[in-house]
Amino acid sequence: MELSGRTRMVGIFGDPVAHSLSPAMHNTAFRELNMDWCYAPFHVLPRYLEEAVRGVRALGLRGVNVTVPHKETIMPLLDVIDPEAVAIGAVNTIVNEGGVLAGHNTDAFGFVRSLEAKGILISGRRVHVLGAGGAARAVCHGLLGKGLSSMLIVNRTVDKADRLAAHLAVRYPGVDIRAASGTDLSTADIVVNTTSLGLHASDPFPLDPMDLRADLVVCDLVYRPGGTPLLRRADERGCHVIDGAGMLLWQGWQAFKLWTGLEPPVSAMTEALRQAGVQV
Ligand code: ATR
Repeated sequence: MELSGRTRMVGIFGDPVAHSLSPAMHNTAFRELNMDWCYAPFHVLPRYLEEAVRGVRALGLRGVNVTVPHKETIMPLLDVIDPEAVAIGAVNTIVNEGGVLAGHNTDAFGFVRSLEAKGILISGRRVHVLGAGGAARAVCHGLLGKGLSSMLIVNRTVDKADRLAAHLAVRYPGVDIRAASGTDLSTADIVVNTTSLGLHASDPFPLDPMDLRADLVVCDLVYRPGGTPLLRRADERGCHVIDGAGMLLWQGWQAFKLWTGLEPPVSAMTEALRQAGVQV
């Protein structure tokens, strides 16, 4: 990639950041469209986050993605925040409009689009969400925006699930939204694991695998090459399985669109992820 005096810069703030596939995905997209743009990884420690955000203005970056652990702490440092990102309580994309920094959340869109791209109907379905943290909030908002019939939020710390369910019930009064400490999949069409269980091979299942039925859609935000134990078992049982790869692609797709105003080249971005070993 040739940089020039006119190269427009974007990037990602995270700690850690070295594992991120977003630079490969976005730089491939820029090359595909012959754009003089560059996406760089920035390893930003929490104590330098405020200075890094000022740097976006000072250095004239067009924008950045924001990943763990900064998605929530970055919010008070921005000038404006999109209403959906406020509702989710997390920002993963910043757009610099002439020094005014606007925060967005493209994770909710990314998750929903990853289901739609695989032909999964969301409207009118019954969903169980496992976990009640930041990732769960994005998933819940994204799905509820598509018109569910019901949602059950299941969390080890049930208080947190209660609070999230109460917050969502105010925003989506027409949907039956409840919280629980365990899941009974007989009342679900779609189940989404947003907990970190599955990241390590020795983790227990986040649900009872005996409950997996062939007509269930089973999603796991944890991405592991070859699938998490949950997705492998769900696949054996004939379920429709969705991993986190599509969400990675589509959240980046929307960020690209926000920065450039152009139609993102989805096949080039998919190919970049495949080259990095991620099957989308
Ligand atoms: P993220 O932003 O990835 O959602 P988070 O906000 O820290 O991260 O949330 C992690 C979620 O995974 C929480 O719902 C957490 O449950 P608690 O609220 O009870 O902590 C869940 N989680 C993490 N480790 C878990 C484990 N070993 N068993 C069950 N749930 C777990």
